[in-house]
Amino acid sequence: MTNACISGTGFYVPPRVVTNDDLIKTYGIETSDAWIQQRTGIEARRYAEAGIGSAELGEHAARAALAQAGLEPVDLDLIVFATLSPEFAFPGSGVILQDRLGLNSGANAKHVPALDVRNQCSGFLYSLATANAMVRSGACKHVLVVGAETHSAALDLSTRGRTVSSLFGDGAGAVIVSATDDDKGIRGVHLGADGSQAETLCQRVWDIRERPFIPLDDEGYGRVSPEFMYAHMDGRMVFKHAVAKMSGALKTACEAADATLDDVDLFFFHQANLRINQYVAELLKLPADKVPHNIERYGNTTAATLPILLAETVAEGRLKPGMKIAMVAFGSGFTWGSALIDW
Ligand code: UT7
Repeated sequence: MTNACISGTGFYVPPRVVTNDDLIKTYGIETSDAWIQQRTGIEARRYAEAGIGSAELGEHAARAALAQAGLEPVDLDLIVFATLSPEFAFPGSGVILQDRLGLNSGANAKHVPALDVRNQCSGFLYSLATANAMVRSGACKHVLVVGAETHSAALDLSTRGRTVSSLFGDGAGAVIVSATDDDKGIRGVHLGADGSQAETLCQRVWDIRERPFIPLDDEGYGRVSPEFMYAHMDGRMVFKHAVAKMSGALKTACEAADATLDDVDLFFFHQANLRINQYVAELLKLPADKVPHNIERYGNTTAATLPILLAETVAEGRLKPGMKIAMVAFGSGFTWGSALIDW
């Protein structure tokens, strides 16, 4: 049977660096560098300028991944775009990226299908599972998987919103999932969900069950209260479930592939909170040098954390062909996932 491997990686983060001190100086948030670093390990994050959205961030990452794979956009058979911060309610960012890649006009016109995945922090792994299945079934030869977020536009950058806003940043990562006859690639992707916790970490904006779905003022304009407009999170609950589900998911990925945790060369954890990841690594007795991280520089970029980390470690020469790697993520939904790859 054909295997599916990752043939290219790429990432992009916007140039504007926002440090913890900048949250205080620029936005007047009552917080401290020490509080944020102690609880989360985050030192800085990136914010995109107004006018830039997730598809544009994703395009930079996608073009880098295509170049590394030696492919052109026209070689793609499918685009899978994971984001919780799409440009619009609909359509999704996938079609916007598809158009930005120049796939709809000229000699290169090839109306490559594009779909969006709405699985927040585990969006990249849900997308990878989709790409893996499409390639292994023979339906696709090359699938572009993008995780991209423009969180900065929708953060409550005031003291009221500090618990959430201090965590998140903008960025994009991309991989190309390609068919190969070699004995390597994605050995398995394992997914889970617990929808009873859907409202533990969510950004409502509207409620489609209500009439009207957004409350209207006297002039017929929609009025969205801050509680609906911005993400709400029970941080402690998320922390507790993240530790349990991430450690369980990593063990599942290894067991399913007849591997042990010791066989794994590098562990790629979703970058939501350095303390969560250190906790999981300690529980599973993973050596710290096998668990790369970059949350200190980018904060939590949700669907983009894993592909950014993959692309960075490839660029640094740390992730090399022949290595066995594991990936794991957990977040809003709750949803989670893990994967094992022979790189
Ligand atoms: O991908 C999934 C995304 N989410 C996560 O992974 C989040 C997981 N959870 C966490 O990382 C932690 O729960 C947080 C870092 C978000 C919060 O840490 P915590 O120790 O659970 O703090 P808390 O929410 O219980 O708040 C403790 C105090 C509160 O003050 P009072 O009520 O005790 O006076 C907060 O108002 O810390 C205050 N606080 C802050 N202070 C300074 C909350 N955020 C901040 C802040 N700076 N940024």
